[in-house]
Amino acid sequence: MNVTELKRLFKERFNEEGTVYTSPGRVNLIGEHTDYNGGFVFPGAIDQGIYACIRLNGTDKVRAYSIDKEDYCEFGMNEEDNPNVHWANYLFGVCREIIKRGYRLQGFDTVFYGNVPIGAGMSSSAALESTFAFALNDLLHLNIDKFELARVGQATEHNYVGVKCGIMDQFASLFGKEGHLMRLNCATMEFEYFPFHPKGYRLVLLDTVVKHELASSAYNKRRASCENACAHIAAKHPEVKYLSDATLDMLDEVRPEISGEDYLRAAYVIGEKQRVLDVCDALAHDDYETVGKCMYGTHFGMSKLYEVSCEELDFLNDIAKECGVTGSRVMGGGFGGCTINLVKDELYDAFIATAKQQFNAKFGHDPKVYNVVISEGARRL
Ligand code: GLA
Repeated sequence: MNVTELKRLFKERFNEEGTVYTSPGRVNLIGEHTDYNGGFVFPGAIDQGIYACIRLNGTDKVRAYSIDKEDYCEFGMNEEDNPNVHWANYLFGVCREIIKRGYRLQGFDTVFYGNVPIGAGMSSSAALESTFAFALNDLLHLNIDKFELARVGQATEHNYVGVKCGIMDQFASLFGKEGHLMRLNCATMEFEYFPFHPKGYRLVLLDTVVKHELASSAYNKRRASCENACAHIAAKHPEVKYLSDATLDMLDEVRPEISGEDYLRAAYVIGEKQRVLDVCDALAHDDYETVGKCMYGTHFGMSKLYEVSCEELDFLNDIAKECGVTGSRVMGGGFGGCTINLVKDELYDAFIATAKQQFNAKFGHDPKVYNVVISEGARRL
């Protein structure tokens, strides 16, 4: 599929020309499960995204065709019109969240497709939300700023998909900039672009192609653990608003009051904050060895403390270590999906070959390989 073909399919279905919008998926160098804890994240947009051809249709209905699902859905934009079709809920949610913010929407026709792997932890759903939030804002001249568009996508996840996610994915999809990562402080929403051209290294994702069941309820459970630990700390230290504001000493003070599980979850989050800052410092003087060490530190924390890794991801992480890869870790929410790897150019071929061969021998299929190209965020084409 490509944009020309997309436009042709739109014309064929709706007899008119539409406008094409796109918004990408994302990678995250470091700073995982920190966004909903008021911490730092360090994502970048990628060159894979959702592409939607759209046209206002003069009615109060949305008529949408998903090329990938080969499925058509038509729905109104009142709360009771919820289509209850998984993919269409994302579009419906975006419409509802814009309306809830006091804007007037109009019906539209759309045909869309995506090339972000689904369930790989690369935020295909944020790309979908951001594409439609950005497009409706542009077509209807709503003048919603990009932060609010990101919140529209996030609220869609909360209220129409059931995942209590943070803001990272939608932020990255909307604000992405070619060749740059973004360090976002999720407590203040201040952010900074960091040029990212690691000379002599490549960033590559290895996709386990597994997505474990119940990932979204496990995600919500992690968030609840963090909020519980934070509430106990805040009772003693009112200056602590988010878990990322706390120190390990503060966490130790409340250790007798919280479960062992909540303690480990919180310890991971507090440690992860420092790792993001260390990575930013290291990048400032091209110290990729330190960046890599922090990535392995994150993997350890996500696997043993936060417990969002899985056998397949741990296996790929071990192989990376054995192959001398500079940094490797599970990326995104976890429970399947990808590892992100910072690899020296000269080790790249051997690493990929070894990872494929060993992974296949153990799990019966190859991991998928995606070379990361840091790209632009949401836009009209
Ligand atoms: C998912 C969520 C994000 C973030 C990551 C983990 O991608 O959508 O908000 O919490 O997991 O860092």
